[in-house]
Amino acid sequence: MRKVLVTGGAGFVGRHLVRRLLEMGDEVHAVDSLAPFTGGIDPAAGWPIFDPREFRNFHFYKEDCRSWFARVQDTDFDYAFHLAAMVGGRLMIENNPLAVAEDLSIDSAYWGWAKQCRPGKTACFSSSAAYPIKLQRADSYVLLREDMISLGDDIGMPDMSYGWAKLTCEYLAQLAFQKHGLKSICYRPFSGYGDDQDDAYPFPGICKRVLAERGAGFLSVWGSGKQMRDFIHIDDCIDGIMATVDAIDDGEAVNLSTGILTSFLEFAAMAAEIAGYHPEVRGMSDKPEGVHARGGDTAKQRSLGFEAKIPFRAGIQRALDYHSRRA
Ligand SMILES: NC(=O)c1ccc[n+]([C@@H]2O[C@H](COP(=O)([O-])OP(=O)(O)OC[C@H]3O[C@@H](n4cnc5c(N)ncnc54)[C@H](O)[C@@H]3O)[C@@H](O)[C@H]2O)c1
Repeated sequence: MRKVLVTGGAGFVGRHLVRRLLEMGDEVHAVDSLAPFTGGIDPAAGWPIFDPREFRNFHFYKEDCRSWFARVQDTDFDYAFHLAAMVGGRLMIENNPLAVAEDLSIDSAYWGWAKQCRPGKTACFSSSAAYPIKLQRADSYVLLREDMISLGDDIGMPDMSYGWAKLTCEYLAQLAFQKHGLKSICYRPFSGYGDDQDDAYPFPGICKRVLAERGAGFLSVWGSGKQMRDFIHIDDCIDGIMATVDAIDDGEAVNLSTGILTSFLEFAAMAAEIAGYHPEVRGMSDKPEGVHARGGDTAKQRSLGFEAKIPFRAGIQRALDYHSRRA
């Protein structure tokens, strides 16, 4: 039985990862402070997708991971998935950048612990927000390739304090390998989505509005609605992590993406059509939209044996069914 640490294990990605690890029979130690304004859900309140308390191999610590790192010095972790972060949605990233900067402290505490306790492998959760924003503008954008961030040479300007912190974590991962031989891989997920995602994110927000306003003539989305994202289903993200976690040891980054860009206008129209109506979709100019186009090249993932499988339309259908059942 592998002993596995998951920081941020009660968050959106964490819950899905914990489920997969528990089902594989791993001894899972999930540490999560259930920080306000994040997607964390207390297992004691029940998780929407499954109940981890039914697994004897599940151990939960409702605690700031920084105090957990100071308290627990076990040297027998086979894997550490480091997800704990202040993320929130776009409002948090744009309006509360100093709260998000706490990620710098969380990540430095993680690497300090890893240096002492030497987990067999670290999977670090960076983000597509680490990519230079100049490559994501309306007048010039490209599918973002891992080597467009070169930590030894050219890093560009990442997206707000969130992107800075993620980039710093990647840098620490590379230094940890070079100076201390600590093995790790860094993931850059694009717009991960799924049924039980926190309402601060556009995906559940739009799905719920589409259902609540079924039959209406208008539907609203944030920003101009022309902004485009690369939506990847959480099940694909977890498959991608499982398929590649042992493929890289030196802290190099891998995208988790589909390579397909969808605008918010297209997304809302598609969701409404699935729900059986055809509203005019409009932007809400008082809400932030972030960069214009953020999509991830898929060549490196494919070379490591992973390809996302769930079409966005199918993912939307699943979420509409899920939210309809819970309404
Ligand atoms: N969901 C995505 O599409 C996506 C995209 C890019 C990057 N990521 C990265 O993946 C990771 C997980 O993201 P998520 O979407 O699950 O976010 P989330 O907000 O749902 O989960 C983050 C979890 O971290 C916990 N946390 C925050 N500070 C903590 C601390 N000091 N100690 C312990 N726990 C703490 C929160 O309580 C929360 O449960 C993050 O590092 C995020 O940056 C996610």
